[in-house]
Amino acid sequence: MAIYPKTKHLLCICILLCYTFLLSHGRAPPSPNLNVRAVNLGGWLVTEGWIKPSLFDGIPNKNFLDGTGLQFKSVTVGKYLCAETGGGTIIVTNRTAASGWETFRLWRINEKTFQMRVFNKQFVGLDTRGNGIDVVAVVAGTPGVSETFEIVWNSGDSGRVRIKAPNGFFLQVKTEELVTADSKGDGSWGDDDPSVFILTNVGSPQGEFQVTNGYGPLKAPQVMRVSLIFS
Ligand SMILES: *[C@@H]1O[C@H](CO)[C@@H](O)[C@H](O)[C@H]1NC(C)=O
Repeated sequence: MAIYPKTKHLLCICILLCYTFLLSHGRAPPSPNLNVRAVNLGGWLVTEGWIKPSLFDGIPNKNFLDGTGLQFKSVTVGKYLCAETGGGTIIVTNRTAASGWETFRLWRINEKTFQMRVFNKQFVGLDTRGNGIDVVAVVAGTPGVSETFEIVWNSGDSGRVRIKAPNGFFLQVKTEELVTADSKGDGSWGDDDPSVFILTNVGSPQGEFQVTNGYGPLKAPQVMRVSLIFS
């Protein structure tokens, strides 16, 4: 029987498709003589803390890189700050253990100032539609001035911090269910000071963004260039 040109054409396509299918499913027989050589460009092309830790050493306040997760335990009530329901409403201090809702992720503006993102991706801020001092997490998308905070360390005890709000006052735990930004933050740093929190740092990703954001726009290009040449 003669095979007509059209049928031949179809047959070809069919064989091609089958072969493609076999290849894409990894069923093609392995070729023992095929040597694949590869070069690891990891240290050149991607920036990772574990590939090149020294790259991160010079970053000011390098424990607070962009994306760092922080948990804050109030010294007066002994419980953790928590974005109630994961975000979208008030910040409370009534959780005895810290997990997702009690972890605040830093958006680093510079070595001192940060925005803090909660579990559901809203940002901690002051209740500008209410009394202006209650602490809430309701802004999604792009945070602004009323979502920008400073974290101030107690120089004597590196585990203790205060959080300075954009209105110039410090956060304080009034009750387990009310956190406000109206403390002068001039107390003793002792266990009776409602503006003091014990900080737990749960770490951060360490990638290119953390390096460039960490060094800032002036220093980053310099650091990245040197690292590329000498890695
Ligand atoms: C914490 O406070 C909020 C707000 O009042 C309440 O809805 C929630 O049930 C409380 N959680 C705990 C564990 O006490």
